[in-house]
Amino acid sequence: MMLLHGTDALKRAATEGRALPGFVAYNLETVQGITAAAEAAGRPVLIQAGSSPFKHAGRQALMRLALDAAENSAAHLGVHLDHSRDLEEITACLRAGYTSVMVDGSHLPFAENIALTREAVRRARDHGAWVEAELGALAGNEDVSTNAVARTTAMTDPAQAAEFVAATGVDALAVAVGNVHGFTKDPVRLDLERLAAIHEAVPVPLVLHGASGLPVEQLHDALARGVAKVNVNAELRRAFLEAVRTTLPGALAGSDVVSVWAAGRDAVTAAALEVIARLTPPDGQGS
Ligand code: 13P
Repeated sequence: MMLLHGTDALKRAATEGRALPGFVAYNLETVQGITAAAEAAGRPVLIQAGSSPFKHAGRQALMRLALDAAENSAAHLGVHLDHSRDLEEITACLRAGYTSVMVDGSHLPFAENIALTREAVRRARDHGAWVEAELGALAGNEDVSTNAVARTTAMTDPAQAAEFVAATGVDALAVAVGNVHGFTKDPVRLDLERLAAIHEAVPVPLVLHGASGLPVEQLHDALARGVAKVNVNAELRRAFLEAVRTTLPGALAGSDVVSVWAAGRDAVTAAALEVIARLTPPDGQGS
């Protein structure tokens, strides 16, 4: 199967009130688990390999793992670079064959975020890839749940979002509307009015980061307001770790690493399948 090139799947999801899942992969087993979920569901999925997981797996190794899995699968898979602040890293992933990248200039002043994003878009176009950028800032950590409190960081401003998209030519915009990276003690409540206003103001699909643990009604309300890509990481991490914990005592007896890795991989598949089901709301959901 060919890799999922271009923005067609993203745009189709937007028109149909669904979303493409972006699942973060750290290692062989998470790549395998996500790939198996896409195959079982028959739905397009993005494997988000890097940037933060490069620190663990190494850039070259994780790039190759994700691309090989996606290229050799019967599923519709894209390989996406998540949260990169580094044009050199973005270029390396584009050259390797990533189908999309996220350039994250959300920590920068507005004009500098525009300049960085424009340059990433220019480079991506040379490789036929699409670009996601971010405006506003999310609370929490991308790799560890910190029980961060929502709405403590800058929310995306609808008028600024319109200016940003026009000035940069990005294909998708990640928004901060009360969403938080990782699990939280109290359920997250999205600012749906703000999300609707951003959707009204910008012509591209919106991206919701921090969707782990988000109440399903909130998720469906977001899908009804222009969100067409949803990022999930902590739910897969938790599933992987719980499977490892359950399998470990028996595996230790036989010094058996394979059963632990296999259990982690299968748990990632099951968790990813649950998310995929949530991202396809029945008709009439979301208001
Ligand atoms: P969670 O941290 O809620 O799993 O979201 C993942 C994410 O947004 C990756 O960019």
